[in-house]
Amino acid sequence: MLHMPIRPRRNRKNAVLRGFARETTLEANRLIWPLFIHAGEGRQAIKSMPGCFRLSVAELLKEVAAGVADGVCSVVLFPAIDEKLKNRTADECWNAQGLVPQTVRLLKQKWPDLCVITDVALDPYNSDGHDGVVSEDGRIINDETVHILCKQALCHARAGADIVSPSDMMDGRIGAIRAALDADGFQDVAILAYTAKYASAFYGPFRDALDSAPKFGDKKTYQMDPANRRESHREVALDEAEGADMVMVKPAGPYLDVIAEVRAATALPVAAYQVSGEYAMLKAAAQNGWLDEKKAALESLLAIRRAGADMILTYYAHQAARWLAGKE
Ligand code: PBG
Repeated sequence: MLHMPIRPRRNRKNAVLRGFARETTLEANRLIWPLFIHAGEGRQAIKSMPGCFRLSVAELLKEVAAGVADGVCSVVLFPAIDEKLKNRTADECWNAQGLVPQTVRLLKQKWPDLCVITDVALDPYNSDGHDGVVSEDGRIINDETVHILCKQALCHARAGADIVSPSDMMDGRIGAIRAALDADGFQDVAILAYTAKYASAFYGPFRDALDSAPKFGDKKTYQMDPANRRESHREVALDEAEGADMVMVKPAGPYLDVIAEVRAATALPVAAYQVSGEYAMLKAAAQNGWLDEKKAALESLLAIRRAGADMILTYYAHQAARWLAGKE
């Protein structure tokens, strides 16, 4: 027998002791459910995201009703926009009768307590597929874009969004959007800033879902370099100073170190986005019988919480809420 006064396994002896020692929990009220909407009929499957659909208004209401019944408390909307409505300056993004504001009004009418979050960025509406306005010579024009993002955020606030969430990574957009909201009487609408959003290959399935891939080039002049960690501090400091209420790290799983870093750098709530590619990897392995989907998905979410995220945007939100409630 080894002479060992200290044996860490004693604290793992049974379920009660493991419960005492547990440092992190995962609850449905920490999850935010991203949903894809379209102006057409029915639900359209998204090939690279099994279990996710582009939803018509009627299908969305069914989906949300089921989610709410299982304890989902928040959704974030992503619209697939008709090519005909796209142009260089993404004008459709601030149309008060557009798909997003109409959907927000409907959701808030039916579920006043549901936290409705909207995405603020031009890519679904932009004929160039970029998050900002593109100049003649192919550059993304920062300040002109911010001006349009303010109109978009206001349009969402007027429709009743609880939180607007700029995912574009333009400089100065948080301060400008805060000022625009305040000037219009929307002091109570919160801003969830995509603060450390990386130029990631893991967004591929999402761009399939919305048909929103950039028509040329990539997003490296505005989204962050995956090689960088320190740079996230700079973005946190700016977004916080400009009035962000919550900050986000995206993607989540491959960026747990950044989540921990951001957690340490701010007192604000920290969100993390388990993006489409992370979901697709888990789904693909599960469908092949290579992973236990429930265990692997819940572990991936718990790990994101452990790294320091208060909230998690995940396509598993509804399913996870059911798992956590012991319904499946
Ligand atoms: C675009 C946006 C993207 C995602 C959320 N908002 C894609 C991108 O930046 O190209 C990705 C989400 C996901 O992959 O699940 N503003």
